[in-house]
Order: sequence, then C-alpha cells, then structure tokens
Amino acid sequence: MGSSTVQLIKFEDFWYSSTRFPNIITFQRHFRAQQTDFFVTSFPKTGTTWLKSLLFSIINRNHHPPKQSPLLTQNPHELVYDLETGIYGGNQKLPRPQQLNNIPSPRLLHSHLPYASLPESVKTSECKILYIARNPLDTLVSHWHFYPKIIKKISGDEDFQPHDINAFFEDFCQGNVLFGPFFEHVVGYWKQSLERPDKVLFLKYEDLKEDTSLYVKKVAEFIGVPFSYVEENEGVIQEIIELCSINNLKGLEVNKTGMLSKFVENNTFFRDGEIGGWRRYLSASMAERMNTLMEQKLRDTGLSF
Ligand code: A3P
Repeated sequence: MGSSTVQLIKFEDFWYSSTRFPNIITFQRHFRAQQTDFFVTSFPKTGTTWLKSLLFSIINRNHHPPKQSPLLTQNPHELVYDLETGIYGGNQKLPRPQQLNNIPSPRLLHSHLPYASLPESVKTSECKILYIARNPLDTLVSHWHFYPKIIKKISGDEDFQPHDINAFFEDFCQGNVLFGPFFEHVVGYWKQSLERPDKVLFLKYEDLKEDTSLYVKKVAEFIGVPFSYVEENEGVIQEIIELCSINNLKGLEVNKTGMLSKFVENNTFFRDGEIGGWRRYLSASMAERMNTLMEQKLRDTGLSF
C-alpha cells in the first residue's frame, strides 16, 4: 500500500499515515519512559502479536499461569499496549495517555517507530527494547493482506479490493509504505542491539519459528526473569509456547469475533504465520530484485535474512 491508498507523510526519513501523524508527534514529544518499561518494537507485520503474547506470558507466568492467562480472553494488543496508534490514538480499550503513569510496572508497551524517532527518554532511560524483524518478502505479503482489511472497514466499502501486488511491491522496495523504508527500520534497531545488547534485543521471526524454546529463554533472560531448572522440567516453557502459538490464539473466540477498535477486527492479526508464504504471491524475479536490494542495504551490517 503506497501513497495511492493511504495518504503518507514523511517525517525524519520515514513514512506515516497522515491521519495518524499528530498522534505520533504527541507520543514522541510527551511520552516519558520509566526504567522498568519493556518495549516491543517492530516494523508492521513482522510478528509483533506473537512477541507481545510471549513477553506478556513470560513476565506474568507466576501471576497468570498459561492455563488461566488473560490471553485466553483478550487479544495480545489489549495486554501490551501500542503507543502511537493505540494509547495516543485514543483506542477506547487501552489506557489514556494521562493514565500511563498509573499502569503498574513493569509496563509492557509497543511502538512501530524507527529507533531514531523514539521519544528521547526511551533511548536514554534504563528501559529495555525487544525488536522483532522478519524477512522482507513475507513482511511485504503480510502487509499487503492486512491493510486493505482495515481500509475496507474505515471506508465502509465492502467491495474494496487490495492494491495491486506489483504496485505494492514497488512501493515497498522504494520504502513508500507505512513506517517504511523497511531496511532502514531494521538496521536502526540492529545497530543498537550490537552497540547496547543489554538495552536492545534483536529477534527474527524465522529464528523464533525454528527454535521457539531457545528464544523464549533468551527473552526471559533479557528481561531479567530467567526460567529455573524446576520450571524447565515442569514444562512451563512449552506451555507458554503452546499458549502463544498462532493456531491456539487464532482459534480463541476473542480472536475470532472480537474487535480491537472500531475498525480493527482481532482476526486480522492472525493469518498463516508461514515462512516463505510469499512464494504464492510474488514471482522469482521479484524475489531476485528484493535480494539485490537487501544485499545493498544490509552490506557490512552483519545482518541477513
Ligand atoms: P502472515 O500475514 O504472514 O500470516 P504483526 O503481529 O506484526 O502484525 O504480524 C502479523 C504476522 O504474524 C501475520 O503473518 C500473522 O499471521 C503472524 N502471527 C500472528 N500471531 C502469530 C503467532 N502467535 N505466531 C506466529 N505468527 C503469528
């Protein structure tokens, strides 16, 4: 989705929805981080919902064991609050900006902003950031599926069709998509994770899929609540993984029929959750072009997908 379906506005080298832009500025200027905060950060459609579910479950595992988890009755985005479009966007299900200081710590928060544009206090305080990245082709296809569903709701036009995927591919490669450009977003967090590994944990969707248990343990260590031998032996990690699996979350009533806001159905956050699903939508030559772009953009970073 490029400028032809959503009015985009450029700010500090990244693109935002013009209607959401005032919320983004308010968030950036007025939000104050606390040193106990945990931030999930991401480019859209890279596994935010999954990481939110895991983070919530890991941190609350004693208070809310997986079998009695609020995730069974609430969407993950109601438990780890999005800042710029959720709290500052006036989502009725989330606390208001003036209630932010009343949220018990540790606060679990989320932003799609690139690292450089985060509020200054997020960058300078002791709070921690967990970033999730995903290969650009699956991200692109997920993006292409998701936003038309929201636009359809906002416009009330039941016949609304997704943007042509070739045009969207072009927009994505040019960086002209919400929170784009993609590679600059990813590299911004990647560099911070190398410079300050205690502050920024960089995760990849594909790694998480391949060895979920390993990365669940890494997340727990990073946020300062490692799993004990007893917990490991009792299968707590496995219970969390199952609770947060796409098949489980997707099948819950709240995620089948609930609404996150007036225009966002909970079910839109759960589609296939596949690696390489892009092959059904994009041609080999498009993939080749993306690989060339990726090589250029990630050269000398040590990062690859
Ligand atoms: P697909 O559209 O490729 O299926 P985000 O949460 O950042 O919006 O990303 C959404 C993508 O993550 C979607 O990918 C969605 O299906 C997938 N997803 C959602 N919940 C997931 C989970 N619990 N485990 C794995 N993938 C999940």
